[in-house]
Amino acid sequence: MAAVALKEPIPPLQADRISRRNFQRLSEYIYDYCGIKLPPTKMTMVEGRLRRRLRALNLTSFDAYCDFIFEQGGLEQENVYLVNALTTNKTDFFREPKHFEFLSRTALPEIIQRRPRRIKAWSAACSTGAEPYTLAMVIDHALGDGPDIPYSILATDLSTDVLAVARRGVYPEDMLEPTPKALRRKYVLESKDRSAKLCRIAPALRAQVSFARMNLMDPAYPVDKDLDMIFCRNVLIYFDKPTQQAVLDKLCDHLRPGGYLFLGHSESIAGMTLPVTQVANTGFRRR
Ligand SMILES: C[S@@+](CC[C@H](N)C(=O)[O-])C[C@H]1O[C@@H](n2cnc3c(N)ncnc32)[C@H](O)[C@@H]1O
Repeated sequence: MAAVALKEPIPPLQADRISRRNFQRLSEYIYDYCGIKLPPTKMTMVEGRLRRRLRALNLTSFDAYCDFIFEQGGLEQENVYLVNALTTNKTDFFREPKHFEFLSRTALPEIIQRRPRRIKAWSAACSTGAEPYTLAMVIDHALGDGPDIPYSILATDLSTDVLAVARRGVYPEDMLEPTPKALRRKYVLESKDRSAKLCRIAPALRAQVSFARMNLMDPAYPVDKDLDMIFCRNVLIYFDKPTQQAVLDKLCDHLRPGGYLFLGHSESIAGMTLPVTQVANTGFRRR
């Protein structure tokens, strides 16, 4: 999995721990900036992921690192690395496949019948790209030889590391295994060097997906307001309930009436007031 192994923790150079106070400062900053909760149980994970930054900056302790970012004005320059290190980016092609079955069987036939000028989708925490490329395969395949309807997929994430992988569209072969064979044949190119065990998303499919950095905490999103579907899966779990509600309120504003919203299977809108009706397992439709 070398091509997308972004943040394997590296072992300590010395027996260094982050102080409680500095951990508190870091977690408050991350919560305010990107909504992610870092309770004290995540302290070892945070240390493991930040050690690379200490090395890059030639710093020998977490306290020196926190001093650099919080006292010496280093935060602006360090923000992007900090966020790249502390976000969790696990993803898969055809993850939570029931959503893609629902799209193929129910949502897309109905959308295509409406003959929209363009089918518009948004993968709102796209990680290394498996989700938007899966979506592109499913939409492209559904359009098949049918009506000539263009489609586009906006894929956004906060981490610049994952966006760089996503834009490249090169993955270890085994990551594509969940992809149905017919779609794999159509949309995935094998590497000429068979020993590399890498494959690439076909250029024609990549051309339908555009990537951008976006923070779901932003007060407003620079995105069209007539989207046919939004995938915002497996990111809300890192946020608290008020943050989840605020993000979902904003996302719903970007769906056309009848547009679809998909959340991760472990995410829930229970207790929230949103203008949607449930139509599938963690799949909703804008009223
Ligand atoms: C676990 S991955 C989920 C990827 C994909 N949606 C899936 O279900 O396979 C969560 C992604 O959310 C991104 N993320 C976390 N906080 C974010 C924020 N405030 N704004 C935008 N993206 C964020 C992370 O960088 C990470 O790539």
